[in-house]
Order: sequence, then C-alpha cells, then structure tokens
Amino acid sequence: MGGESRETFGSRLGFIFAAAGSAIGLGNIWRFPYLVGVYGGAAFLVVYLAIVVIIGVVCFISEVALGRHTRQSNVGAFKAIKPSWAPVGLIGIIAGFMILSFYGVVGGWTIYYFFKAIAGFAFPNPGASTDLFVGFISNAISPLIYTAIFMATTIYIVYKGIQDGIEKYSNIMMPALFVIIIILAIRSLTLPGAGAGLEFYLKPDLSKIDGETLLAALGQVFFSLSLGMGSILTYGSYLSQDENIPFVCTIVPMMDTLIAFLAGLVIFPAVFAYGFEPGSGGGLAFITLPAVFNEMPAGNLFGGAFFFLLFLAALTSSISLLEPVVAYMMEEHGWERKKATITMGGLIFVVGIACSLSNGIWSGFIVLDRNIFDLLDFISGNVLLPISGMLTAIFVAWVWGSKNALQEATNDGTIELAWGNLWANVLIKYVAPILIAVVFMSSVGIIKI
Ligand code: PHE
Repeated sequence: MGGESRETFGSRLGFIFAAAGSAIGLGNIWRFPYLVGVYGGAAFLVVYLAIVVIIGVVCFISEVALGRHTRQSNVGAFKAIKPSWAPVGLIGIIAGFMILSFYGVVGGWTIYYFFKAIAGFAFPNPGASTDLFVGFISNAISPLIYTAIFMATTIYIVYKGIQDGIEKYSNIMMPALFVIIIILAIRSLTLPGAGAGLEFYLKPDLSKIDGETLLAALGQVFFSLSLGMGSILTYGSYLSQDENIPFVCTIVPMMDTLIAFLAGLVIFPAVFAYGFEPGSGGGLAFITLPAVFNEMPAGNLFGGAFFFLLFLAALTSSISLLEPVVAYMMEEHGWERKKATITMGGLIFVVGIACSLSNGIWSGFIVLDRNIFDLLDFISGNVLLPISGMLTAIFVAWVWGSKNALQEATNDGTIELAWGNLWANVLIKYVAPILIAVVFMSSVGIIKI
C-alpha cells in the first residue's frame, strides 16, 4: 500500500515535465498534423482547442485530484473511495499494457530510423522509401532487436522510481525535445516552397467541420492527453499536497497542444517543399519524411534530429504507460518495484513480439479484420480508453462527488479557480461523460454521426 514511504515528485517542474512527457508522444508528432490536414486545417485546430479546454483539462484535473487525494494508483484510487469500482481502474491497467505492447514496437522503429537517417537514406528511386519501411517492419528479427532496446530503456527508467527515474529523465528529455522541435520547425519553414505546406496546414476550411471532425478531435484529445488509463492519475498520486492542481493541469495540456501544433509546422512545409503528398499515419513519419530528408541538404542531420525527437517523445510516453502497471503490481500485489518493472515490462515485450510479427510472418492471423498490432490499437484506443475515461469522470463526479473533488483540486478552497463551480456542476458531471460516450459509441459503430 501507499503509506508514508510513498514517493513524490521533487518539484513542480518535475511533475510538469513528466506529465507533459506522457502526453507528448507519437500521437502529437505524426497523428495530430495528419488529422489537421484531413479535417479542414485551421478549422480542426479551433475545434481541437475547444475540446482540450472543455474535456481535456476537465478530465485531467479529475484524474490528478483523484490520484493525489487517495495517494494510490489506478485500482487503489477507486478502491479507496468505493471498493466496488476497483474494476474500472483495472480497465485502465489493461489498456496501458496493451498500448505499450505496440507503442514499444513503434518506439523501436524510431531507433532504427534514427541510425538510418544519420547514415543518410541514400534512396536510389522514389519507391525505395516505402520498400525500406515495409521491408524493415515485416522482418521477423530486426525490429524486435530495436523494440527490445526501447523496452529495456523504458524498464530501466521506471525501475529507478519517481525522482531518480521518471522525473530525472523527463527533466532532461523534455527540454531537449522542445529545442529539437523548434530547430526543425525553423528549418522547415525556411525551405523554399514552404508556403504551400503552410497553406495546406493552416488555411481554415470551415465547410469541413462536421460530426466526424468533432469525433476525430475528441478521440485525439483523449489519447494525446494520456487520459483514461491511469497514467495521469498515477502521476497525480505522486504530486505533493500543496501543489496547485488547476495550474499544472492547464499548463500540461497547453504544452501538449503546442508541440502537436509545432509538429505540423515541421512536417507540412518540408513535405510540400519537396513536392511530396501529405500521406497518413505511420506512412507520413516513416515513409514520406525519410524521402524528404533524402532530398534535403544536410538531410542526415535534420533527419537524425527528427527521429531522435520521435524517440524522446515515444520514450517519455512509454514510461508513463509502464508506471501505472508497475504501481498496480506494487500496491495491490505487494511486489517490489524491481520485480514489477522487469516482469511486467518483460511480459509487455512478449506481447510486443506478437505485434511486431503481425506486420510480417504473422500477418495472416486476422481477428475482427485486423492483425494483432491493429487489433490491440483498436481495442485499447477505441474501446478501453473511452470506457474507462467515461467511467472515471462519472466516478469522480457522482461517486466521490464533484464537490469533494473540487475541494481536493483547490487545496480546500485556498486556490482560486474561477470556473470551479462550472467544472463541478456541469463539465465533469454531464458534459465530459456524455461526450466521451458519444465518441465511444460512434467509434465502435453503435451510433452513426
Ligand atoms: N499521449 C501519448 C501520445 O500522444 C500516448 C499515451 C496514451 C501515453 C495513454 C500514455 C497513456 O502519444
């Protein structure tokens, strides 16, 4: 159990960097820019920002308050307030386990691509970039070596604990990430022909806003802010009692959004400057961009910097995916941190092996029209996260009580929160759970918008 020996973050900035590290991940750097492009440029940006405020910050505050109040991670936090709700915490733990198993595979890809980029891609023809990617991920052994390195790094940091592991390394990695993304954005924006990319990225097309845009934005806010699976709740449980929850819970989503926005400024001007098509998802980062770096002067340096950026973003998110699983084993099953990190990290790697192989020799193994990799992505992202996110909001608002949660978030009323009553009476009680439920039902096809 928690008790007096429970670790805490050493400083406010340490918590902010760790939580921002969790939020800022692969979702920001390749998924967000792509969604902006598809769903109407700046129009999507406006919708996204509104949802960050209405749901993102609202749920973020509730997770941190619940964690800090109970000083327990996911399962323990629910149990401490109402034992019958413990299974909701468990949904988050399972989601984290699943996400990390494929996230770790992609983390491995970033390491491989970092080395490839530094060496210079040297593609002989335009199709070579696709061949490199498909050839690499479908190989049975090579991606696993990189996934193993990525997971071992994640395990090491989590094994070192909160202050000597997560906080210490986040304090180094996050500033590095900020510096790299700013350098890359400047490089990209100053390329001849960058304007077309900017136009594509930022020219609002309001006619493109419809139900689907809203859903895409909602789902992205949730995933990007690491909500619904206990990462933020668990980090909140290591936050000190006198810390200002409304402040840290506003600054982290702002940083997350800023990095997502900057990622678009890195990607689109460069893609357009070299006459490539803005692809999608994994293809944009691992197929289109290598082809761009192949053309760019000093492309090996900028390419290396980009994949290092992607690696840092993935690593700080992956430690926040492992920590709740580890904290759960420690708190609920009395395991030592060492045993919990190595065993659970190792098990996640084993599931990761199956994910990786499903891009190659196991690609014929299909469930619900998906290979193992996509299946885990779908179940965790589209099913488990929204369900547990919605139930967490309901739990905080109706079981723990939004007034109690507000007391915790404002340090018993000593912190001024202008919209505190709106938060407690409307946003967390009705708006958040209802909107999350709508997203969930439409993403699994129960309703159509
Ligand atoms: N927020 C991370 C990203 O954008 C992913 C993540 C989800 C991390 C849930 C932790 C928990 O990539």
